[in-house]
Amino acid sequence: MAEIAERGFKDPSLRRSAALFRAFMREPSDPERCYTLLARDSVAQVARHVDLPGKIVVDVGGGSGHFTEEFRRRGAQSYLFEPDPRELSARGPVTEDAVLADGYLLPLADGAADVCFSSNVLEHVSDPQTFISEMARVTRPGGLIYLSFTNWLSPWGGHETAPWHYLGADRARERYERRTGRQAKHTLGENLFPVHIGPTLRHVRARDDVQVVTARSRYWPFLASTITRVPGLREIATWNLLLILRRSP
Ligand SMILES: C[S@@+](CC[C@H](N)C(=O)[O-])C[C@H]1O[C@@H](n2cnc3c(N)ncnc32)[C@H](O)[C@@H]1O
Repeated sequence: MAEIAERGFKDPSLRRSAALFRAFMREPSDPERCYTLLARDSVAQVARHVDLPGKIVVDVGGGSGHFTEEFRRRGAQSYLFEPDPRELSARGPVTEDAVLADGYLLPLADGAADVCFSSNVLEHVSDPQTFISEMARVTRPGGLIYLSFTNWLSPWGGHETAPWHYLGADRARERYERRTGRQAKHTLGENLFPVHIGPTLRHVRARDDVQVVTARSRYWPFLASTITRVPGLREIATWNLLLILRRSP
């Protein structure tokens, strides 16, 4: 696992994508390995743009803290902002760098962060534009914003009900519950929202408080940026959009 960060798989590359995919398939039985690997990979992506030691990093919707921890391991001062107390305490006692807070209203001054980071949260908020505005507000001019999300028409868009969400969210949910005997974790319109790539790209490009540095598929081994330029196809083929934005001066 350490290979991804320490030896540095080429990104994008087949080896990197295969390693991430294998870990993702084993997520139900070994979530620790999956999220540690993903955190190492994502923080390595940030480190290509920012010299991390000493930098202030804010992880918004950071769940149980794998990404915050990895930023700290690489020398940043990182803080976890997470609205779900169960997530905050999922891996042990809550530490002093973790804050119970909503991404719409972060308890931070304007420009407090060198890096504002959010992985796989945007599709869980009902108002993505307000969420992005708050990320931009807390990032200092010249600072970096890392924003990734699974779009609704991605093969994984329905999360645990995927790919049956292509037949409709309700049907997919019913099928999941019938097959597993468990309640689905996500309900469309409650804690999962249909975010799309085209409108999100148009939105960030039209903003004057950020500049788009990178728009690419987060996991694809090839054509990672090209895919996001093809309307229609990008909604299905991107899987997960990664945006790296620079806060305008
Ligand atoms: C799929 S998890 C992602 C966790 C982690 N960032 C990752 O990539 O593994 C979605 C997270 O978003 C959080 N979340 C939901 N609504 C939020 C909001 N309004 N502000 C901040 N976080 C939110 C959830 O509590 C949850 O921890």
